[in-house]
Amino acid sequence: VEAVVIGGPASNGIDNEIAKKLNLKREKLEHKIFPDGESYIRYPIELEGKQVIIVQSLYPPQDKHLVELLLALDAAKDLGAAKVIAVVPYLAYSRQDRRFRGGEAVSIKTVLKALRSAGADALITVDVHKEESLNYFEGSSINVLPLRELVAYFEDKLSEPLVIAPDKGAVRRAREAANILNCPYDYLEKSRNRITGEVSLSLKGVDVRNRDVLIVDDIISTGGTMALASRRLRELGARRVFAACTHALLRRGALKKLVNAGVHEVVATNTVPSEISKVSVASAIAEALRKLISV
Ligand code: R5P
Repeated sequence: VEAVVIGGPASNGIDNEIAKKLNLKREKLEHKIFPDGESYIRYPIELEGKQVIIVQSLYPPQDKHLVELLLALDAAKDLGAAKVIAVVPYLAYSRQDRRFRGGEAVSIKTVLKALRSAGADALITVDVHKEESLNYFEGSSINVLPLRELVAYFEDKLSEPLVIAPDKGAVRRAREAANILNCPYDYLEKSRNRITGEVSLSLKGVDVRNRDVLIVDDIISTGGTMALASRRLRELGARRVFAACTHALLRRGALKKLVNAGVHEVVATNTVPSEISKVSVASAIAEALRKLISV
């Protein structure tokens, strides 16, 4: 069955790279915004009977990019696509994955239900905040972890490396990165003084003194989490602190905050465009796609 890669307005070049790697045809969705702000999309080719791979990331403006994706998915189905695969490198709303306070929307559930009902038969995303969230998607899904690619960027720069997760939730990433680098890993444990309310970060198992530390996390948004971790690791005696993340949202002067917190270098993947998005996730996604495309 013929497969074609379709680049949405927020594909950040990943569509083109994937198509090249898989030796598939690539087309861009036609796209414009009406004077009142509504989105318009159109497929420039016939989709009848084809496997359609739609690449659209959900970086800011998330809501606009989400609506564009929904329009594209539904239209692909209408136009007779045999199978529709949504490739969503940055899956927005993934941090609101449960009701932290009564009455809240479980946003990721809503987004995944919407993608499915619009027409996504399968979903590929990159480093979703919590992998279990993908259970809300009632189709096949693959979460690509781009650690091999991120770590490769740093490999030659680190001496006596150590990988640290900025919190317990991120420890799986740290473990995988450490396995690749063949070095130890740990996570920063947050504790709060019940009297003063002060938050402190501590390490349990490893000594960071005179080591190059690589902090890995899924998202850098305001940079607060990474900055705090970097400060603490420097206090504990780390030689240099490097930071790697998958999704560089970089809001409110995040990069400056990281520099001020002593981060030597920070790098991200290209799921979200930014000045530090230097590592491509295209190969990792192409590999996952091979499992979903039928030949
Ligand atoms: C939190 O659970 C995430 O994994 C990130 O650590 C967090 O969202 C980063 O946000 P910020 O850069 O604003 O601290």
